[in-house]
Amino acid sequence: MRFYRTRDYDDMSRKAANILAAQIISKPRSVLGLATGSSPLGAYRRLVELYRAGDVDFSEAVTVNLDEYVGLGPDDSRSYSYYMFDSLFDHVNIDPANINMLNGLETDEARESARYDRVIERSGGIDMQLLGIGPNGHIGFNEPGTSFEKDTHRVKLTESTIEANKRFFASEDEVPRHAYTMGIRSIMRARKILFIASGEHKAEILHRSLFGPITPQVPASVLQLHSDVTVVGDEAAMSMIPT
Ligand code: F6R
Repeated sequence: MRFYRTRDYDDMSRKAANILAAQIISKPRSVLGLATGSSPLGAYRRLVELYRAGDVDFSEAVTVNLDEYVGLGPDDSRSYSYYMFDSLFDHVNIDPANINMLNGLETDEARESARYDRVIERSGGIDMQLLGIGPNGHIGFNEPGTSFEKDTHRVKLTESTIEANKRFFASEDEVPRHAYTMGIRSIMRARKILFIASGEHKAEILHRSLFGPITPQVPASVLQLHSDVTVVGDEAAMSMIPT
């Protein structure tokens, strides 16, 4: 595991974007596993800047996103699909045919999960998976207690996640109760993991995930078993990580 301690959110975002850009530059047809939420927003902004400066070209890149709320379609501004187009895809030269998102409007769980697992398999596998961490240790929407053996599936979101994500909705009642997510097994198959965290509220869970027992109760702890993880965190998030 490699650790990069960065000054603050902007510095973390710059470092994460540089690592993602390096991946695309060294392998233009990279398959990138992408995340949403607050953590990667700055990195996406920076990638757009790098693209505009002519330093990175997305024309061959393939993306697969981690998760999506059940019940929200791509036109809903609160969906992860909308977030991705708004923060990255609409601003770079990615081929729309190479963008893969879970379909929150699909009601048949088995069909959607199998479709997405096929998408990942046919892409040749994820070269670099970007991950944030939930306050309860979730990665993607794999909530505490989820088996490490799962591929894509539908989950019931925990109270902790609903509470953490209500800031993106008008009220807590509007937060969808279910989501589709890539499973831990799908995430662990990625060749490289880029794990980012920012803020004091992530310090304890980041430490527990990377130095505590490996257990489904702390989903991110599984990353201790992956052979190529790069952690980029700001000082506040990394405050409990030994130097
Ligand atoms: C988002 C995702 C989640 C977030 C996590 C942290 O696609 O999979 O696991 O990475 O909830 O969210 P933020 O970055 O908003 O603190």
